[in-house]
Amino acid sequence: MFRTHNCGQLRINNVGETVTLSGWVQITRKFGSITFVDLRDRYGITQLFFNEAMTEQLNENSLGREFVVQATGKVIERSSKNPKMPTGDIEIEVTEYTILNKSLTPPFTIEDETDGGEELRMKYRYLDLRRNPLRRNLELRYQVGRVARNYLHEQGFLDIETPFLIRSTPEGARDFVVPSRMNEGQFYALPQSPQTFKQLLMVSGYDRYYQIVKCFRDEDLRADRQPEFTQIDCEMSFVEQEDILNTFEGMFKHIFKEIKGIDIADAFPRMTYKDAMWHYGNDKPDIRFEMKINNLKVNNEVFCEALNGVDFKVTDEAASILAIAVPNGSEYTRKQTDEITEWVKRPQIGMTGMLFIKCNTDGTFKSSVDKFFDEARQKQIAEQCGAKAGDIILILAGGEDKTRSAMATLRLEMAERLGWRNPETFAPLWVIDFPLFEHNEEDGRYYAKHHPFTAPKPEQAELMDQPERFGEINANAYDIVLNGTEIGGGSIRIYQKEMQQKMFAALGLSEEEAKEQFGFLLGAFEYGAPPHGGLAFGFDRLCALLGGDESIREYIAFPKNNSGRDVMLDAPASLDLKQLDELKLSIKA
Ligand code: AMO
Repeated sequence: MFRTHNCGQLRINNVGETVTLSGWVQITRKFGSITFVDLRDRYGITQLFFNEAMTEQLNENSLGREFVVQATGKVIERSSKNPKMPTGDIEIEVTEYTILNKSLTPPFTIEDETDGGEELRMKYRYLDLRRNPLRRNLELRYQVGRVARNYLHEQGFLDIETPFLIRSTPEGARDFVVPSRMNEGQFYALPQSPQTFKQLLMVSGYDRYYQIVKCFRDEDLRADRQPEFTQIDCEMSFVEQEDILNTFEGMFKHIFKEIKGIDIADAFPRMTYKDAMWHYGNDKPDIRFEMKINNLKVNNEVFCEALNGVDFKVTDEAASILAIAVPNGSEYTRKQTDEITEWVKRPQIGMTGMLFIKCNTDGTFKSSVDKFFDEARQKQIAEQCGAKAGDIILILAGGEDKTRSAMATLRLEMAERLGWRNPETFAPLWVIDFPLFEHNEEDGRYYAKHHPFTAPKPEQAELMDQPERFGEINANAYDIVLNGTEIGGGSIRIYQKEMQQKMFAALGLSEEEAKEQFGFLLGAFEYGAPPHGGLAFGFDRLCALLGGDESIREYIAFPKNNSGRDVMLDAPASLDLKQLDELKLSIKA
């Protein structure tokens, strides 16, 4: 037997028992003629005590870091206890030990705060995963999955697997493709999500489906994006939006209760897409704090009198002017305002500059554009922004889209600096009433805002025949947002062939193309498709937020780096000539 107990198990009431433990050497400390060894496994650390006689058996290198050791001995009470360790009252007086395996010196310390850089830790991920923070994250992930499964099971959902080798599904990203040996010159695509399959399962009558499933998207990566990630993917038949929101709000609350012990009694706030964009600048508002955006001018429409009749090129020529009032900012030094200005000028934000008005505590105002805006105008802007004495109003001016998204980012940045983005505060909400289409100025056509299977609001269905009004159509599409991150999204689907054809046509697919790519779905819609809808949670994102992080990488056992590489496997990698030949592929020089 390798062990009678694990390394986190023994307590004072085990004193006197003879036990065997197996684990990894965290550290060996030799004090003169005696030795202490911290033995670690995933359950904890137990101190081994080697008395003089046993220490004599140890040679210099026999218990190096990360050696795998089995030790037998008696549990004894420690003379100097360690109240910080659950096993800190006891130690094992070793009478027998075996080195089960040696270890090279690890390239970084296996501690909560390691000295290893990210790239190194990724390369030796199997060592990184021995560290407590990662172990806790993976345990959390397991628990979230388990709790979600329990909830869905109780609600009558069936877990049904869908294939990975499929045809491309248009979810907005590029596909990863897999060449087929048996079908020369042809490729599978890996699913960006099981979207069409879950809809087909509805046609088949499995009216409550779910799956915790891998999805693959070849897109630019960020802290909350991986090329392969996991969704809790769900679909229901004979439901309206309200049924879906209730079911998954219930799941979310259940997860919070079970995982965090937090009872969320109130219904989640619901905000329309339009309001989210107007007040927060994006469709995933962080509502842990207010600091809403003030719309002084939008698409050349002036909403603030004080902007009229000022001969100032920057504000006169900008299509949109947006402002936020930041508390305690009137005391910012020149250096501080300069630094924020430089921050908004970074290429990722892309603004040409920033204006500000300080609302001094003595009731006066001081602005970066005193020359153009007299005190009365500054006061008027401050009033419109609901600014209080002591605030600073930060103002961005420029094209609508860029300015809005820059202001959304600046709002989050200032909140971060104010300590308002506390990861232990959770503010979920639904964003609803998304537009059905998104117009792309560059190629002059419409794209599906969610995906091409999303239904228009029934009362707007006839607008699907009026291309000039596509921009007005909204969908019963919804996102669930937590602390400024989109953690899930879905919609009520199209379930009638004619409507689906109209949708494909609106997206610029000819009848032929639609048939070629989606014949299976259009065909299925001719055999009694029920009304249906669903949603998918980003499982990695949900876990990261529950763990108090924004980066999902630390919640995935073997993630990719920012260039989409697995640095441990060194993948992707080239294929040898034989493999390429077999696939009838050649690499363009
Ligand atoms: P959507 O594309 O919105 O919807 O994806 C659902 C959720 O998945 C998460 N997510 C990601 N997480 C990590 N890395 C990524 N690259 C990534 N991309 C998306 C997000 C997102 O909210 N089939 C539809 C769902 C439906 O309509 O039912 C879909 O996939 O949290």
